[in-house]
Amino acid sequence: MSAPRRNVELKAVDPDPQRSLAVCRELGAEDRGVLRQRDTYFRARSGRLKLREEQPGAAVLIQYDRPDAAQARESRYRLARVEDPDDLRASLAAALGTLVVVDKERHLFLWDGVRIHLDTVHGLGSFVELEGVAATESDLTRERQKVAHLQRELGIGEVLTDSYSDRLLGADALIAAAREAMERAHAPYSGFHVGAALRADDGSVHAGANVENSTYPEGQCAEASALGVLVAAGRSRVLEAAVIADSDRICVPCGGCRQRLREFMPLDGTVHLCSRAGERRTATLEELLPLSFGPEFLPQ
Ligand code: THU
Repeated sequence: MSAPRRNVELKAVDPDPQRSLAVCRELGAEDRGVLRQRDTYFRARSGRLKLREEQPGAAVLIQYDRPDAAQARESRYRLARVEDPDDLRASLAAALGTLVVVDKERHLFLWDGVRIHLDTVHGLGSFVELEGVAATESDLTRERQKVAHLQRELGIGEVLTDSYSDRLLGADALIAAAREAMERAHAPYSGFHVGAALRADDGSVHAGANVENSTYPEGQCAEASALGVLVAAGRSRVLEAAVIADSDRICVPCGGCRQRLREFMPLDGTVHLCSRAGERRTATLEELLPLSFGPEFLPQ
């Protein structure tokens, strides 16, 4: 294994991938093309252990450890080249167990020693990642400056502290909560059972189902029920939502519920639209509700 290396890195939801691509080109960043990456995470006893398979490219085993902090941070990692990824994946899965698989397309740019990743992650949506690769003797000041510059140029908003693997595990748990609520829906008139789950800014999850009424217009959507649960629990900011219906098609929130979510969610918050069978599409709230009206339009 190689000696530990250091990075200054940062990740955020990319609300406008087309714009980010245009900014990379305007900055004159070197376009290294699109990579398809599949990371298989194993249940390591400490830190993280993943097998990265890249096309085009080779396979590497990556071990790393990093603090979760909400700013650009330093991470340490070790790499080992892998000759036979199928065999290694099978042995590690048998010995340790597989935690999660992260599948993504990564458009890679290089700008003054900083790697810019425009990522589309299967089941999660679009993200931008910056990695200032540090020289051995560096105190990381230059790397932090360069990353901060790119952060401004790309209009990067809230920095994410969790990894794609954590996010996928979190999204799976959110969808499971929505599914559980869906199974308790009161929908005897439409026969269309819907569940919604919301993750608040403190990480707590709040779920609800649609509640119909024999006086039809008095019925309530699952998203509205879940928001009621969230508010009653004392929360007022939603970072992630999942909606699922007992249907072969993914469930899209109705127009009214998009506006209801808009009251509590930032525009770059993610919404997972799911089907009974597990099909999933992930969108930002802004994609679901462009040019939207929100609380900030009202006089203070
Ligand atoms: N429904 C929801 O719960 N959420 C949506 O966003 C779409 C529609 C419910 C309302 C009604 O009980 C049933 O689905 C059929 O419209």
